[in-house]
Amino acid sequence: MRIVVLVSGTGSNLQAVIDAVASGELPDVQIVAVGADKHGTYGVQRSADAGIETFVVNFKDYPQRSEWNHALTEKCLSYQPDYVVSSGFMRIVGEEFINAFDGTYINTHPALLPSFPGAHGVRDALAYGVKVTGCTVHIADAGVDTGPILRQEAVTVLPEDTEDSLHERIKVVERRLLIATLADLAAKQHSS
Ligand code: GRF
Repeated sequence: MRIVVLVSGTGSNLQAVIDAVASGELPDVQIVAVGADKHGTYGVQRSADAGIETFVVNFKDYPQRSEWNHALTEKCLSYQPDYVVSSGFMRIVGEEFINAFDGTYINTHPALLPSFPGAHGVRDALAYGVKVTGCTVHIADAGVDTGPILRQEAVTVLPEDTEDSLHERIKVVERRLLIATLADLAAKQHSS
């Protein structure tokens, strides 16, 4: 199963996938490329260090969002992936991208969707005062953190939690869930 992973930041969840592929935990998964929406991300650096092909479709280089979206779509298509995984990719992709990867664009989100969508899922959950939050892996559609849920798991909020401490505990679960989801999808592909 060929996957392209998109990142905007440190890529610690991506690193977990790289490690799972390297250790043989995901024998049928190949990371064919890692892409970012800006230069200088640690996620791209990690991937290059691991010998994975990388690319940047720099959002700021395109005067129109639609032009950036087109370039990203074309770039991802060029790798002929079975799935594109948004792993901390902090840009909303447009219709052209969603249509090109209809049902095969996977997103991870650090909250129990449909609660707390958007860029600040952990902060918003904490501010609301929920006692349980979690993470979601889902097929992304044209909305913001919407689309069919593949896996979800709860994480308890502790009284002393800060956004960072809670996010770190969520990410531990998120990594496991993402790897399990990729294993599920690869197994499904294998048997079809
Ligand atoms: C994850 O919690 C992801 O769901 C969120 O950003 C985090 C990515 O962290 N949107 P990292 O770049 O994998 O360390």
